Amino acid sequence: MNYVNLDAITLKEIPKIIAEDGRGNLSVIEKELLPYEIKRVYYLYDVPSDSIRGGHAHKELQQFLIAVAGSFSVVLDNGKERKTFHLNRPNKGLLIPSGVWRELENFSAGAVCLSLVSAAYDEEDYIREYANFKSIKRS
Ligand code: TYD
Repeated sequence: MNYVNLDAITLKEIPKIIAEDGRGNLSVIEKELLPYEIKRVYYLYDVPSDSIRGGHAHKELQQFLIAVAGSFSVVLDNGKERKTFHLNRPNKGLLIPSGVWRELENFSAGAVCLSLVSAAYDEEDYIREYANFKSIKRS
């Protein structure tokens, strides 16, 4: 599994359209924004503030996360280093490449994590044991 440079991962701006008459904002994701075709959409909600979600890596799947409401943190781990991102705006998203361990934590009340992913659900694509992830990264 390839080394992933965490410095190259930054929050990505999602275009925002502000209604000139004060009716509020709209953000739009068109296919050019992501390096893959969206195959599945799911979302986390009603997450207790002390929950840790994720806790896995993917062999192939890529994923774009957005805090469409509230906020949460995403800790990314490439097997060597960790980097934490705070998602708290509906017009910013985090593109997570394959081969990265992720943990989602510190969910605010009412937070909704929208996830746009590159593949259908496939348990075979998951690495759910951290020790296993580390040994795959070492090899
Ligand atoms: P899990 O991967 O543990 O969620 P998270 O990484 O967000 O903490 O998934 C929770 C359960 O939901 C698990 O039994 C797998 C199932 N699941 C699906 O059936 N389809 C899906 O698209 C996803 C993401 C999860």
